[in-house]
Amino acid sequence: MDSRHIAVIDFGSQYTQLIVRRVREQGFFSRLYQPHELRDTGTPAAVILSGGPRSVTEEGSPDIDLDYLLAMDVPVLGVCYGMQLLSKKLGGSVAPGNTREYGPAQLVPCAVNSLFAGLSSSAQIWMSHSDTVKTLPPDAVVLGKNQQGVPVALQFGPKLFGIQFHPEVSHSHEGSKILSNFLAMAPDAAPFRIEDFKQELIAQIKKRCHGREVVCAVSGGVDSTVLAVLLKEANVPHRAIFVDNGLLRLNEVEEVQAQFARLGVNLETAHAADRFLGALAGEADPEKKRGIIGNLFVDVFWEAAANVEMLAQGTLYPDVIESATSGSIASKIKTHHNRVERIMELHRQGRVLEPLAELFKDEVRALGANLGIPHEILHRHPFPGPGLAVRCPGEVTEEKLRIIREGDAIFIRLLKEHGHYDKVWQAYCGLIPVKTVGVKGDERSYEFAVNLRAVTSEDAMTADFAKLPWDFLGLVSNAILNGVKGINRVLYDISTKPPSSIEWE
Ligand code: XMP
Repeated sequence: MDSRHIAVIDFGSQYTQLIVRRVREQGFFSRLYQPHELRDTGTPAAVILSGGPRSVTEEGSPDIDLDYLLAMDVPVLGVCYGMQLLSKKLGGSVAPGNTREYGPAQLVPCAVNSLFAGLSSSAQIWMSHSDTVKTLPPDAVVLGKNQQGVPVALQFGPKLFGIQFHPEVSHSHEGSKILSNFLAMAPDAAPFRIEDFKQELIAQIKKRCHGREVVCAVSGGVDSTVLAVLLKEANVPHRAIFVDNGLLRLNEVEEVQAQFARLGVNLETAHAADRFLGALAGEADPEKKRGIIGNLFVDVFWEAAANVEMLAQGTLYPDVIESATSGSIASKIKTHHNRVERIMELHRQGRVLEPLAELFKDEVRALGANLGIPHEILHRHPFPGPGLAVRCPGEVTEEKLRIIREGDAIFIRLLKEHGHYDKVWQAYCGLIPVKTVGVKGDERSYEFAVNLRAVTSEDAMTADFAKLPWDFLGLVSNAILNGVKGINRVLYDISTKPPSSIEWE
């Protein structure tokens, strides 16, 4: 860990992770710590105290060692709860506000100061708090007020600042500028360079493995591919296992095998299509289908892995924050505790390696590019663990899978050829298992329909249907109707999430 990073202290706000994200966007490495971990931050270049749901007036609310913080002699920015905590500890008083304040407000900077340099005279900020600072600590200077004249930004000392609003959310229109001004006060903050980070990760992997063999599950997706290549680069004994569950896309097994061969990673494929399709036979309930696939995945992987010394997982930073114990395999099957217990046991024994756990998705892509992984792998659309089963409502059969595979291959090929692939978050062709009447040649047909789904999204939590041009959709429809046997109708899914979801099951 580079000691000149930006330490963010987490008081529990739902936005804390966003602060880390915003700092990294500005080119500095940032990391989250719990309040009691202040001493573990080493010598950071600056400290940001996050917001939080509690009130600093409450008994037992999260606290920080102020003397230690001040002795660090680095710039400190308290956000919301962080500002109230600084105010209280520096001799001011905080009281519950008369009204809760959530949503937009205006920031009116009132003194020339470095934190607000270059800001507009009135910019939208985003509030989410109920407590307010009643009396200011001695020597505190008001840097900004809201439109009602209430102080919302304070300076407590040459390097000590507090703001009542959340600069990290995009609704604070000049929030990034404020963070950038604050970071400029930490001139020794080291820029985050992916090459340095890669070397550090490789050194850590070597140290942790200490000659032991590492096993990882790979899917061909971004995270597990970067993970496997990183293990190869670290030159530790490793095995990469790819489970063919029979629910993959057209030629996917061969393509993933070829992809890993090109990357120089030795891939073992566990061919288990028959086991998965056998177990799914006759099952139409979506949750039961997911359960069967999740359980079997762990069984097949575990049988193939046999006597695991170390397990590597492609857990990313957002997963770590969400749950201290979630991992790629663990989260895939979160309802199947007895099986996950094996992974938890390895965790307890210190035998789980999660080298990507400090990174966000785009940083994993940057690391992947640095490792020489091609663009088309790093920018592949997400593909769900249960594979085509969630795109095949009702019972899964070989015939339905064939239709989905062929339709999907046509749709994806045309998206790429017409420059739409990189503009959408995810796209696929699924099956609608309802037969309808059509005419083919001079004959009546009575066949299934397929649905095309293409969405735009930031994080898959919400999604909009992609506004693909009509002509393009017409072209795809025509190609699928002519190229895929067993269907006579193509529909385009124009549902948003919520209330829909991206997958159909
Ligand atoms: P939904 O359908 O919930 O999907 O809107 C949101 C995103 O998550 C993916 N997804 C999964 N990914 N295992 C995964 O690894 C799963 O069980 C799973 N279910 C959905 C989906 O493809 C979309 O990107």
